[in-house]
Amino acid sequence: MSEFAARRKQLLEAMGDGVALFPSAPVALRNHDVGHPYRQDSDLYYLTGLDEPESLLLLTNQHEEHEVVLFVRPKKPEREIWDGPRAGLEGALADFGADVAYPIDELAEKLPGYLGNVDRLHYRIAQNREADATVFDCLNHLRRGGRRGVSAPETIVDSAVHLHEMRLRKGGDEIATMRQAAAITKEAHLRAMQLASPGMHEYEIDAELLHVFRKHGSERPAYESIVGSGPNATILHYRAGNRVFNDGELLLIDAGCEYGYYASDVTRTFPVNGAFSAEQRAIYEIVLQAQKGCIDAVKPRATLEEIHQHAVRSITEGLLDIGLLEGERDALIEEKKYEAFYMHRTSHWLGMDVHDVGRYFVAGEHRPLEPGFVLTVEPGLYIATDAESVDERWRGIGVRIEDDVLVTEAGSDVLSHGIPKEIDEVEAACA
Ligand code: GLY
Ligand code: MN
Ligand code: MN
Repeated sequence: MSEFAARRKQLLEAMGDGVALFPSAPVALRNHDVGHPYRQDSDLYYLTGLDEPESLLLLTNQHEEHEVVLFVRPKKPEREIWDGPRAGLEGALADFGADVAYPIDELAEKLPGYLGNVDRLHYRIAQNREADATVFDCLNHLRRGGRRGVSAPETIVDSAVHLHEMRLRKGGDEIATMRQAAAITKEAHLRAMQLASPGMHEYEIDAELLHVFRKHGSERPAYESIVGSGPNATILHYRAGNRVFNDGELLLIDAGCEYGYYASDVTRTFPVNGAFSAEQRAIYEIVLQAQKGCIDAVKPRATLEEIHQHAVRSITEGLLDIGLLEGERDALIEEKKYEAFYMHRTSHWLGMDVHDVGRYFVAGEHRPLEPGFVLTVEPGLYIATDAESVDERWRGIGVRIEDDVLVTEAGSDVLSHGIPKEIDEVEAACA
């Protein structure tokens, strides 16, 4: 609770005068009477720890008595029998740090009282259409109040500007949670390496990953697990499907659990029969050398662009060595010839969201890394099955290696450490 309170205080100070609104994630219906699993909006969770739908946090430094206002579902025993307990107004005050709490049904009625005669509204327009409608109605109502001496906010600021800067810089508790997420993910990848063998289906490994995540207290995968066998490894965001593993194929698993609302995001690629073929090994070595070099390049003041350029150079050299590219290195890089085989970028921010918030550019320049940022390092090589320019023996090979890396004062700390990635370690883990 004190961590959430400290975040609210920091945000209130950073945002200056005004009122900020953070609505809960909408409930999404899957099909008749069945909802998609609910997950709270990361911003609201970051500021409160409240995981209930139909809620909204209002922060204000322009009200005489209240700073933290929560709108929640009131307690209702006849609904709680079906859906489980609610915090209610009592819980909002006692457990979630509210100075005052109201039923969410009173939002439209109460909002003008907090927004009237306030200059700045901090609200992320166009993210949540239902919340937009309530906020816009309130603004419209206030704009009609001029003759009564009531004014609507003149300035609407994206509430994420300050908040996402805060979320980008991970504190000690957050890093500890991310380490735990990565530790669970490590167990899941190890189990997949042990179990996968020719004749199994992709969905069986998907189930094993989920089993390990949930068994260790992870709420859910941080994203749908990618389990791509054989040529499916060359499809970047393939989902686990029905394909059966054939002897001699690679399996690419990009899977990470979410734990305590923090994501991990790890990829490993390994041979289903436990031994890399010569071609698979050659491709794997190129990706591995690039990935390790990129991790070495992570340090304060480096940029994601520099790290990506390292991957591009390293991969281009590797492709030249094995003859998949021909020509002069710098010209090949200049002409982006590597993009036929490496078509995505090397890193993204990681945190509560797998592709986490935080600006990648500041004043038009690639942003320098700072201690407390967490990023992925995930180069790959994907030789399409129909890549006619390359010899047939390379086709259908897909390799990605991805780790989660914390920037530290001294350089970096790999949160997803200890998941086999050297060739002999991988083969031993699969044996
Ligand atoms: N798993 C999604 C990604 O690696 O970005
Ligand atoms: Mn990934
Ligand atoms: Mn990733």
